[in-house]
Amino acid sequence: MSDGNSDALVFFGATGDLAFKKIFPALQAMVRRGTLDVPVIGVAKAGWGLDQFRARARESLEKFGGGIDESAFEKLARLLRYVDGDYNDTSTFDAICRELGNAERPTHYLAIPPSMFPTVIKGLGKIPCSRTARVVVEKPFGRDIASAQSLNQVIHEVFDEASIFRIDHYLGKSPVMNLLFFRFANSFLEPFWNRHYVDSVKITMAENFGISGRGNFYEEAGAIRDVVQNHLLQIVGLLAMEPPIGGDVDAMRDEIVKVFKSIRPLDAENLVRGQFIGYREENEVAADSKVETFAAVRLFIDSWRWEGVPFYIRTGKNLPVTATEVLVELHPPPQKVFSGRTFQAGKPNYVRFRLGPDMAIAIGANILKSRGEKGPQGQDIELLVSHQPGPEEAGPYEHLLGEAMKGNTLLFTREDAVEAAWRVVEPVLGAHTPVYEYDPGTWGPKQADELISPDGIWPAPA
Ligand code: BG6
Repeated sequence: MSDGNSDALVFFGATGDLAFKKIFPALQAMVRRGTLDVPVIGVAKAGWGLDQFRARARESLEKFGGGIDESAFEKLARLLRYVDGDYNDTSTFDAICRELGNAERPTHYLAIPPSMFPTVIKGLGKIPCSRTARVVVEKPFGRDIASAQSLNQVIHEVFDEASIFRIDHYLGKSPVMNLLFFRFANSFLEPFWNRHYVDSVKITMAENFGISGRGNFYEEAGAIRDVVQNHLLQIVGLLAMEPPIGGDVDAMRDEIVKVFKSIRPLDAENLVRGQFIGYREENEVAADSKVETFAAVRLFIDSWRWEGVPFYIRTGKNLPVTATEVLVELHPPPQKVFSGRTFQAGKPNYVRFRLGPDMAIAIGANILKSRGEKGPQGQDIELLVSHQPGPEEAGPYEHLLGEAMKGNTLLFTREDAVEAAWRVVEPVLGAHTPVYEYDPGTWGPKQADELISPDGIWPAPA
């Protein structure tokens, strides 16, 4: 093994939901593309054998993998191994070692509940075959600053930072990475990408479904821990960062950390929490739960570039649509050149990034529609480029797993970034701020609009 690529993949939580919905489909896609040709060892405690594990893989691909590709599946099935055992039991890790055989640089993927991370990492620390291994850890990484720090400590006892891959699947999405690309592969944005021209940035991540049976998880997490601290702050980071200096792997991550560090920690005044009506009747949800299924926040970045520009984030379950969008609104023109005539000023200019489910970049502008009797009439238009990802494009899990197995940490969250992101949300974690009810299928509590201004409008994604 001379190229640093992993020569085995071990994934814990092999019978779980994440494996079922995301990991098996990613593995089939990797085999099909020819990027996975090493043993894949599933680990779980289910009393299963290899045949059941393969059957589970097949079922996952039928439901979530876009169907079975028989030739790819046959290859994948040959790569699969299975270890059944308790994570507290040393013999489970000995069995993993046996399955790993001569593998020198396995990647261990922890697709398990966060409470189990320390147990598995300590277990890995006791076996000789993890010395040169890599570890991929699912979010949420900790549940506040202190727990993230102590988890970092536990992991560092076994793995060095270059071998730790804290996964945030938003960084594996190409429309999200395109924020970075579009900003820095073009020169026309830079002159107006600052407080002199940008009025506000509004980020919406809306989902038109509820908690999908994940009551237990959601009660522990809530929207702020589930998606604000990670996916949405990463988007803020990519929008607000300075150009990375130099080509090394930490250049981009350094700039993102600087953004996180310059975000003012949240307080009650800049937060609206909501809960959809019916949440408390969900399985494993407390009858008096104060956990938020909706959050709207107003962030300020104390930097030269962004001083005074509000960054709004809104996310929620059971909203009218499923869409993630960024709207960067510019100030109106300094003078009303056409005033005195009947010309109506249109919407302010904006740049709109559609990040999911499809991808688009649009620039909003005003043009002259007609020069009738009544004088010039304007029209709001959008210059739009859109793209529907095809089946040939690597999904986020496929992409990130491949990157981790190559040892490329660029798209993974560094220790200091995780801690800086917790610092932003920590003051508003928990139930000490009000949680307002909202009807499923609406845009959340009305207080969220008021966060923008007393008669604020939070535009719905296009
Ligand atoms: C996950 C959250 O990290 O991201 C879920 O735990 C959320 O609650 C999901 O639904 C959204 O991911 P995507 O890729 O569907 O936008």
